[in-house]
Amino acid sequence: MNIRSIRDIEVDKKRILVRVDFNVPLGEGSGVITDDSRIRATLPTIQYLISQGAKVILCSHLGRPDGKVVEGLRLAIVAHRLSEMLKQPVVATRDCVGPDVEKAIGKMRNGAVLLLENIRFHPEEEENDATFAQALARLADIYINDAFGTTHRAHASIVGVTKYLPAVAGMLTEKELKALGSILEKPAHPFGVLLGGAKISDKVGMLENIMGKVDYLLIGGGMAATFLKAYSHEVGLSLIEVDMLDTAVRLMEKAVRNGVRLLLPIDVVVTDKPSPEAKVIKTVSIQSISPHLRIADIGSQTTRNFQEELRQCKSVFWNGPMGIYEMPQFAGGTQAMARFLADLDATTIIGGGSTAEVINKLGLTDKMTFVSTGGGASLTFLSGKKLPGVEVLLKR
Ligand code: 3PG
Ligand code: MG
Repeated sequence: MNIRSIRDIEVDKKRILVRVDFNVPLGEGSGVITDDSRIRATLPTIQYLISQGAKVILCSHLGRPDGKVVEGLRLAIVAHRLSEMLKQPVVATRDCVGPDVEKAIGKMRNGAVLLLENIRFHPEEEENDATFAQALARLADIYINDAFGTTHRAHASIVGVTKYLPAVAGMLTEKELKALGSILEKPAHPFGVLLGGAKISDKVGMLENIMGKVDYLLIGGGMAATFLKAYSHEVGLSLIEVDMLDTAVRLMEKAVRNGVRLLLPIDVVVTDKPSPEAKVIKTVSIQSISPHLRIADIGSQTTRNFQEELRQCKSVFWNGPMGIYEMPQFAGGTQAMARFLADLDATTIIGGGSTAEVINKLGLTDKMTFVSTGGGASLTFLSGKKLPGVEVLLKR
């Protein structure tokens, strides 16, 4: 990709505004970061800038505060975690624009790091407001996008600001584009795609775009229920997307036309209630799902089938858990697939979001070829759609 890069510019002694994606998962009501890999992933860029004597001004959103200050979504805890990783202080400001922020930046020494407050406390961020983008631009000499996970959003700190500052990609954004781009351009064959997660609607674009390249397509997770239903199977109380039934049929036909081997579950774990109070938890064949139960995971036979197919692959892309992985009773399929892929002798690329969280939690990140930090962004990219935050970094 013909993109302007951090390597192409002089950063020495300059004020650099680095948009990062520190939208990390927080434990329920606790203000504790449960997965810090999005912070860790930006360290190469930040450490490089420090080593070059730049003034590093970081900017991110956290959650969806909807244009208001939400105390539980302040970025101070992220600044704290980052300073532990960098082993140097990280100043957290109480806002992201304005005189107090400008004063704090004025005091920065070369090699210092500062984190602006949650940019989504201002409604102008998501509106891509020009005046707000200019207020941000005033803080720095150069803009770097290292927030790959947010490049699908045309917001002020992703798109608007690049009108007013020289704009280049950071090391994470570059690495993501390269890794995900390799799936689209030249995947090693056989190429397998393992898909899960709740909804087909999130993944149709990607499925359409890669159908001509993939050899094996394995579908588990909540979205499998809609495919099974499209085949007229009883799926009980499982959530299905009624308006996606036709799409599911169309995708299965397209797979056949393209010679793609498409596998659905043949057995599933069902339950009366996907909660710790569940009274029924059992594995059944997909022919015998009771109308009173719902699918919560893939079954062990399905897990073995999926592994059997993937064992032949030279490259695998995985996005979306196989079941309700947040609850140990229904995490079996997801964890088994994660461990299997970690040991597979193939290029393994993991889509971001919850799949990345699972891999990180199991400590398997280093055993995969690449784990994306982008959920929606990686799916948008793999759909072949343009990422607004990347478009503004292209060399013209
Ligand atoms: C993500 O987590 O997908 C990114 O940080 C973007 O967040 P958003 O979906 O709230 O725009
Ligand atoms: Mg998202």
